[in-house]
Amino acid sequence: MNIILLGPPGAGKGTQASKLVEERGMVQLSTGDMLRAAVKAGTPVGLKAKAVMDAGQLVSDEIVSDLIGDKLDEMGPDKGAIFDGYPRTAAQAESLDAILSARGRTLDHVIELDVDEDALVERITGRFTCAKCGEGYHDTFKQPKTEGVCDVCGGTEFKRRPDDNAETVRTRMAEYRAKTAPILPIYEARGLVKRVDGMADMGEVAASIAAILDA
Ligand code: AP5
Repeated sequence: MNIILLGPPGAGKGTQASKLVEERGMVQLSTGDMLRAAVKAGTPVGLKAKAVMDAGQLVSDEIVSDLIGDKLDEMGPDKGAIFDGYPRTAAQAESLDAILSARGRTLDHVIELDVDEDALVERITGRFTCAKCGEGYHDTFKQPKTEGVCDVCGGTEFKRRPDDNAETVRTRMAEYRAKTAPILPIYEARGLVKRVDGMADMGEVAASIAAILDA
């Protein structure tokens, strides 16, 4: 099964993709994570992407589509793919069709996380992760059980994304409205879009997605 999780910054795409990886053995293909890894490693892609990401704008279609094709080849044909944060433009949607068909894959669902944008700023600016294992936390919604200590690995250092400040979040939202939301009708016309209330509790969102995948 191959699915797209679609929604604005902070809608919960990464959160739900992680659950699907754990529970169904699918593979999460997050272009944001791939780009952040490239920035950290100082690769040519990372060097090009850093300033664009820090400004909350979109990296070039060609770069992200190449990353997705490479990742699909690396993971092999047997596991299902969760596209998280890709496609984000009409050109990327077109590339994804070509990438999938070249590998004998088809798209099964486009799951749109329907959210209230104003609430997302709080979600994003409160988010932090364990610097050692990457476990995600939130100032309001999910604090470590022991203050300052990661529940999963015991790490004591935490980090925040450089693009998770209120001003950049507004730019990321504007990019979503201008370039990503317009691709929904492409998938609606193909009968692939399923809407889920992304403002519900994380467990409820996961249950709604599970119901779609199991239907
Ligand atoms: P990317 O990393 O994809 O960021 P994003 O789309 O802005 O999405 P986020 O990771 O911020 O949010 P999310 O929906 O995954 O939410 P999460 O689950 O973490 O992209 C970053 C940048 O990379 C882009 O700006 C661009 O520059 C570049 N880029 C990436 N892909 C690209 C592409 N295809 N083309 C061009 N450029 C690209 O949840 C957020 C918080 O809310 C968490 O703290 C979580 O715990 C909490 N939360 C989640 N669900 C709930 C819930 N139901 N209730 C309460 N809290 C919740």
